[in-house]
Amino acid sequence: MHRRDWLKSSGLILGAGFWSEIMASQTACHDFHHTSEIEISYEKEILRLSSNENPYGVAPKAKKAIIDAMSLANRYVNTDQLTSKIASKWKLGPENIILGAGSTEILSLCAISHFHDGKGSLVTPRPTFFILPAVAEKLGAEMINVRLTSDKLVDVENLMMAIKPSTKMIYLCNPNNPTGTKLNHSVIKSFAEAVPKNIMLVVDEVYLDFVEDPSLIPLVENQKNLIIIKSFSKIYGLAGMRLGYGVAHADTIKGLYKFLEKGVNGITQLTYHAGLAALDDHDFVKMYLSKNHEAKEVLYNYLKQKNVEHYYSYANCSVFSLDKFDKAMVSKLLSDDKIFVRQIDDWGNQYCRVSIGKPEDMGLFVNTIQKYLI
Ligand SMILES: Cc1ncc(COP(=O)(O)O)c(C=O)c1O
Repeated sequence: MHRRDWLKSSGLILGAGFWSEIMASQTACHDFHHTSEIEISYEKEILRLSSNENPYGVAPKAKKAIIDAMSLANRYVNTDQLTSKIASKWKLGPENIILGAGSTEILSLCAISHFHDGKGSLVTPRPTFFILPAVAEKLGAEMINVRLTSDKLVDVENLMMAIKPSTKMIYLCNPNNPTGTKLNHSVIKSFAEAVPKNIMLVVDEVYLDFVEDPSLIPLVENQKNLIIIKSFSKIYGLAGMRLGYGVAHADTIKGLYKFLEKGVNGITQLTYHAGLAALDDHDFVKMYLSKNHEAKEVLYNYLKQKNVEHYYSYANCSVFSLDKFDKAMVSKLLSDDKIFVRQIDDWGNQYCRVSIGKPEDMGLFVNTIQKYLI
């Protein structure tokens, strides 16, 4: 049975229940953990601008490595070489690196290691990427949510002010998801250095690969209360392989390993080889970054022309206000136009988050949303 036939027979296509299920999950900044959502959005007819994936596929060097590694899939994997290669990229030692099945695994581990006792609070901007706050909340942590500034920047001053005696952790993304906005390096660096040493600061740099700004990684050598999060999902096109990592002081990494047996993470033989090869695929990264820029211009030209509130993104997703559009645009885009984007609630204000596809995808997107302008 073809995928489409299976989806039809299982009622995943066109069923009203299905659409409402998808739309119900759209108000939060959720990205991918919804099986039926994933099934439907792989349909050829659907333009998937919903999960900040790489629209150019898997980095070619990684693809070759995956195919070559197929015959090794009967063997358990030893990921030491990948850990060392990542460590040397950052001029650190393997004791500073922890690999995970996607950065999601490391973000979850950060939450588990600090909130497993169900006590304490997490300070985080909202809206932001959901995984770490979601796991912390499930464990019983108190959520202290801090609004973005009027420019949709992470508000570091208010994050600092929001700290309570119970605060164990601060989590922020730079650039931020869903806005794609970023803090200047000097601002985020001073903030990182000023966070009280009894509070762990988790800085998610998954989108920093899209800009030339320096990472905060050099700080970890002398600062134990800092964990930096990185991913292979975006610029290397390996979202489906699941590979990410955390970088921290050796003692901090040891602390994370209290909750995960060393070497027993979710990384497969194929993922491991893909990761090793991807790190050398500079041509693919260069091509993607330049195309991503070109595609953003298509979107921004349209939004500027229509005077729609929007913010320059330094990542591969961008938000714009839904004020000038049909209230149901996001759900109609999926059901009628087969374009999958997200609706973001920013403290009562509604935005569309669109992942940046190829320039032609963005052309189709802006032509399509035109009809929803009010
Ligand atoms: C800010 C941020 N961090 C982490 C992730 C998770 O990425 P991964 O695929 O590495 O688990 C995402 C995914 O979209 C993200 O937007």
